[in-house]
Amino acid sequence: MTATPTVSVTLHVNGEEYTLAGLDNRTTLLDALREHLKQTGSKKGCGLGMCGACTVLADGRRINSCLALAALYDQKEITTIEGLSQDSETGLHPLQQAFVDHDGFQCGYCTPGQIMSALGVLQEGHTGSADEIREFMSGNLCRCGAYSNIVAAISQVAQTPLEALLDEQRAGA
Ligand code: FES
Ligand code: FES
Repeated sequence: MTATPTVSVTLHVNGEEYTLAGLDNRTTLLDALREHLKQTGSKKGCGLGMCGACTVLADGRRINSCLALAALYDQKEITTIEGLSQDSETGLHPLQQAFVDHDGFQCGYCTPGQIMSALGVLQEGHTGSADEIREFMSGNLCRCGAYSNIVAAISQVAQTPLEALLDEQRAGA
């Protein structure tokens, strides 16, 4: 029987360094985060790149971690929902607070991916209108249909100067 090919991968997740030795080289980034590092904030919805529940930032860009091979993210900076900076009083990132303020979630299963994708949309500057937000959030599905509330939440945070938002994220990373 042929042995499973393995690889050693070092991931920088939310500012912490983790080395996974002997990792099956077919392991997705999502499974590395959830199953190996026990960072279960990122959700596995479809596992096929169709729902966005697994969205994380890799070197500041949003990706579907279910489609990403962990081995290809060696030494990359990964930010998950657990890594968002926390307000000292509420413990929430401004996007998390905005989702609360606007009822942007119901079951909440899609919410970590929605929030990470929203962070990407803000950083990309695609918040010029509600339609633009909808278009650039279109890879994130919500079976509960909280879409209009999610757009409202992102719009609220878009009022915040982006540099301040990025500083908060860096501070929490
Ligand atoms: S779980 Fe990754 S896109 Fe659905
Ligand atoms: S809040 Fe339930 S799937 Fe989006």
